[in-house]
Amino acid sequence: MRLLVVGAGGREHALCWALRRENPKADIYCAPGNPGTAELATNLPMAADDLDRLADAADMHGIDLTVVGPEVPLARGLADRLRAEGRVVFGPSAAAAQLEASKAFAKDVMAAAGIPTASSRTFRELEPALAYLARHPEPLVVKASGLAAGKGAVVCQARGEAADTLRQMLAEGRFGDAGRTVVIETFLRGEEVSVLAITDGSEVELLPVSQDHKRLLEGDAGPNTGGMGAYSPVSVASPELLERARGEVLLPALGEMRRRGTPFTGVLYAGLMVDEDGTPWVVEFNCRLGDPEAQVVLPLVSDGFTRSLWAVARGESPLPLEILPGAASVTTVLASRGYPDAPEQGAPIVIPPHLPDGVTIFHAGTARGSDGVLRVSGGRVLNVTAVASGFAEAQRRSRETADAIEYEGKIYRRDIGWREAARVAEVSR
Ligand code: AMP
Ligand code: GLY
Repeated sequence: MRLLVVGAGGREHALCWALRRENPKADIYCAPGNPGTAELATNLPMAADDLDRLADAADMHGIDLTVVGPEVPLARGLADRLRAEGRVVFGPSAAAAQLEASKAFAKDVMAAAGIPTASSRTFRELEPALAYLARHPEPLVVKASGLAAGKGAVVCQARGEAADTLRQMLAEGRFGDAGRTVVIETFLRGEEVSVLAITDGSEVELLPVSQDHKRLLEGDAGPNTGGMGAYSPVSVASPELLERARGEVLLPALGEMRRRGTPFTGVLYAGLMVDEDGTPWVVEFNCRLGDPEAQVVLPLVSDGFTRSLWAVARGESPLPLEILPGAASVTTVLASRGYPDAPEQGAPIVIPPHLPDGVTIFHAGTARGSDGVLRVSGGRVLNVTAVASGFAEAQRRSRETADAIEYEGKIYRRDIGWREAARVAEVSR
C-alpha cells in the first residue's frame, strides 16, 4: 500500500507514526513532513497547500490513499482535486471544509440544524458591529470568521476590549482576510472537550475524547494558541455526554451538510463546552484531526485506524477502532519563546537519548540543517506524548521528558491535564 500524508506538523508526524505502526511494510510519503516524519516516511519537498505539486506527486508515486492533515489545503480544495483525478482521499471537500474555514457558515449550519451553540451575530462592517456590541453582555467573544491557526478567537472580559478587537480585525486588517468577517458571540461557561469523529457523512466512529489547553500560560492564562498540550481520555466525557454529542451535535451537523448537497467526510472535530447540565455547546467545528489532539489520541488506538480511514475515503461506513484498554495519554507541547506571535528560530535542540517507557516525541516545528543539527524552525517545536496505565503516570512522564529536552527559548506548560489531576486527587481522597 502506498500512503501520502499531507502536512508538516506534530499532527502529521503522529499520523505517519499511527499509519506506520499498523502498516510496517507500506510505502509512506509525507509532504512536506519534518525531521520526525523523515524517520518513518519519505518526505516530499513541497508546500502542503501546493495543489498542483501534490497532485503530481500522488500520480508519480501511485498513491493509494492520501490523508490530509491541515485545514488550509482542504479549504483550498485539495481533496476535490485529487478525487477528480480518481484518487482515494481521506478529508472533506472544500465546500464541506467551510464548517471550519468560515465560522459564519458554521453558525448558519448550527442554527439550521438546531445544534446548541453560543448565540451570535456576524458582521462585515465596523459601525454595526460596534452598535451591536454596545448592548452585548460581558464577557463576550470576538472571532475572525476565517482561518487563523487557532489564534482568531479573542475572549473579551469587557466591551472596550471587544471594541478594540473589532477595530483591529475589521478596520486594521489583523488576521488579513480571515478577519474581514467577524462573529460576536456570547461567552460559554463549562469545561471544553475535543470530540473527533471519523465519518463518511452519515455515520460516526469516535476517537477517544481529549482536552486541549489553548491558552499559552499555566493556569489557562495568556493568549489563545494552536494548543499547548492535551490529555485523553477525559473523565467528564461520560457515555451520556458522548451520546448527546452524537445525537445533538454530530449527526445533526452531518445531516444538514447532506441536505445542502455538500456531505462532510473525513474527521469532524467538535470543540464542545460542556455545561453543568451536561449540555454539549459547540464552540467550533474543525474539518480535520486536532493538533495536538492527534498526538495524544492516536497513540491510544491499538488497531483499525488505517482500515477506518480507508473505508471512509472510499465512501463506506467508518469501521470500529480498537482502543488500548485502561490507558491514558498526555501530550506536552514545547514551543519557542515569542510564540504565538513571533517565535524565535534556529536554536539547536538536544533530545535525551533514552526516553521513559511509553514516551514518543513528535516533531512539529523542527528542521535539520545540512550540518545534521536539529534546530527550532516553528512556533510549536516538539510534542512529548506519554502513554501509561493511568493519568497521573502519563502526566509525570510527559512533563519530565519535556523538562529534559533542551534548547534556548523553550517554553511549555507543566500543568497539562490540571483539571483531570484535580479530579484524580478528589477521587483518591
Ligand atoms: P475557536 O477559534 O472558535 O476554537 O476558539 C478558540 C478558543 O477560544 C476555544 O477553544 C475556547 O477556549 C475559546 N472560546 C471560543 N469561543 C468561546 C465561547 N463562546 N465561550 C467561551 N470560550 C470560547
Ligand atoms: N488544537 C486545536 C485545533 O487543532 O484546532
